[in-house]
Amino acid sequence: MDYKAYIAQRLCIESMSAAEIAEAIAVPPDTSLGDFALPCFKFAKILRKPPVKIAEELAAAYPADGVISEATAVNGYLNFRVSRRGLAEETLARIAREGARYGASDLGKGRTICIDYSSVNIAKPFHIGHLSTTVLGGSLYRIFNFLGYRAVGINHLGDYGTQFGKLICAYKHWGDRNAVQEGGIHAINDLYVRFNSEATEEMEAEAREYFRLIESGDREMSELFEWFKELTLAYVKTIYDRLHVTFDSYAGERFYTDKMQPVIDELEEKGLLVESQGAKIVDLEPYGMPPCLILRSDGASLYATRDLAAAIYRKNTYDFEKCLYVVAYQQNLHFKQVFKVLELMGKEWAKDLVHVAYGMVSLEDGAMSTRKGKVVWLEDVISRCVEKALSVISEKNPDLSDKEAVAEKVGVGAVMFGALCNNKIKDIVFSYDKALNFDGETSVYVQYTCARAASVLAKARAEGAERQAAPASEPCVQEFELLKALADFPDVVKSAAEKYEPSLIARFCVDTAQKFNKFYFDCKILQAESEQAKNFRLALTEATLTTLTNALTLLGIGVPEKM
Ligand code: ARG
Repeated sequence: MDYKAYIAQRLCIESMSAAEIAEAIAVPPDTSLGDFALPCFKFAKILRKPPVKIAEELAAAYPADGVISEATAVNGYLNFRVSRRGLAEETLARIAREGARYGASDLGKGRTICIDYSSVNIAKPFHIGHLSTTVLGGSLYRIFNFLGYRAVGINHLGDYGTQFGKLICAYKHWGDRNAVQEGGIHAINDLYVRFNSEATEEMEAEAREYFRLIESGDREMSELFEWFKELTLAYVKTIYDRLHVTFDSYAGERFYTDKMQPVIDELEEKGLLVESQGAKIVDLEPYGMPPCLILRSDGASLYATRDLAAAIYRKNTYDFEKCLYVVAYQQNLHFKQVFKVLELMGKEWAKDLVHVAYGMVSLEDGAMSTRKGKVVWLEDVISRCVEKALSVISEKNPDLSDKEAVAEKVGVGAVMFGALCNNKIKDIVFSYDKALNFDGETSVYVQYTCARAASVLAKARAEGAERQAAPASEPCVQEFELLKALADFPDVVKSAAEKYEPSLIARFCVDTAQKFNKFYFDCKILQAESEQAKNFRLALTEATLTTLTNALTLLGIGVPEKM
C-alpha cells in the first residue's frame, strides 16, 4: 500500500499536486507521534499563513478512515496514524487471496524485455566470475516475468574466435576422443591450457588455419567445433539447473556470422566507417571515447561488430522495450561504444539498451585449491558450500530427514545470495562461513525463518486451529512492523525491476525475517491470550511465509520445508 499517495490524495493544498504532496511526506524517526508526517513549513509562503495554523486546518479537514485513523497537528507538522487494524485486515486478506502471486502484477502486459545474461564462453571454464551475471540476470528474468512482462533470456554464447582453432589443433595433437567425451569441459580446458603453454610456432600457424577452416564452413572442423560446444553446454546446463536459471535463446556470437555484413554496409552507407591503419573503425573521438573497431586489417570482425548485429537482430525479432546486458563493469567502455554507434546509425531505440553492470566476486580464502590451477570454477564453490551446509545442518539438527536435499537448497542459496545481497556494483568477497551463518544477514537465516514459520503452522494445523485476518485488538508494535513490511512487498518488487537491483528483494528478505523473529519471540503465537489473538497471529505467520517464499523464489533460491 502506498500510504504517501493515499494521504496526498486526501489533502487539498493550493497549487500543489498530489504527487508533490506525497513527495513531501516523510516517515518520522520517532514513530510515537505518528507513522507519517507532513512538515507544513514550506507551504507558509504560498498560503501566506503560519505553518502551525496550516497544520491545524489541514488536520481538521482530513477525512480519517479505515486506512489512516488519525491526523493531528503538532508544531507545524501534520502527523498521520495508520489504522493498524485496517492494515492488518487488508494485508492479510490480500496475501491469503493472492498466495504465490502476491507481489505480481500485470504492469508489463504486452511489453518485452530482453535480458542478456550469463553468456558463457564455449570451451572455457564456467568460473566464479560468471556467478553474478548468472544469478542477477536469472533473478531479473523472474522479476520481470512476475510483473507481467515477456522476459526473453538470452545466453550470448562466446563461441567465436581464434581460440577454437587453437583448441582443435591441441585436440589433433594430444587429444583422445573417448577421454574428451568422458572428461567433457575439463578435458577440453586441459587441452586449451596445454596449447597456451606448449604450442610451437608451427602449431600456432596450424591453429590459425583451423580457425580459417571453421569460418569457411569446413565439415570436419565444424563437427569438432559443434562437439566442443555440445560438451560445454551439457556441462553448464547442470549448473544452471542447480541455480534455477533458464534461457529462451542460446544465440551466441557465431549466430551473427551472416548478420554482420548488412551492418557493415549500413555503417558504410551512413558514412560512419573510417579506414585507420588498414582497419575499419567508427570514430568516437567527438564523444570522448576511443574508436569502435569494426573490422581488423585482415578483415576479421570483432566482439563489438557482433554486438551491433545482435542488438539489431533482437530489436527486429523481439521488438523489446528494453534490452539489458548483465555484464561486469569491466565492459563499461565496450557497451558505451556499441550503444553510441547504434545511436549514430540513427537507431532511436539505442536509448533502450542498458548495461546492467556489476562488481567482482572473489573468495575470502583465495587460496582454495581447484582442479584447474588459478581459475576458481563455480561448480567447486557450489559443491564446497553445499558440503559445508550439510555439516552445519547435521550438527544443528541431527534428526532432520532428507538432509542432502536441504543442504543443496541452503548451500546453493548461500552462494547465490552472496551475489544478490549487496548493491550490484559493489565488489564482493565471498566467505563460506559468513554466508552460512544462521544468525547473519544471510539466505540461511531467511530460510530458517521460513522453516520456523512452517513448523508453527504445522503444529497449529495438527491442533485444528483456524487463521483469521481480523486482529483481536489493536496490533502491537511487533505485529504492526511486520505487517508494514509485508504490505510493502509489491512496491519492493517494482523498485527492484525499475532499478535492475534484485538486492532490494534480498534486503527485504532479511529485514522481514528479522521482524518476524522479533514478533515470534515477543508475542506468543500458539499460546496466545485468546483464541482470536492466536488465529490472527497464525494468519500473520502464514502471510510471512507466503511473502518470504515469493521473495526467495524471485531470487531463484529454494525454501526447505524443514531445517
Ligand atoms: N561472453 C562474454 C564474456 O564472458 C560476455 C558476453 C556479454 N554479452 C554481450 N552481448 N556482449 O565476457
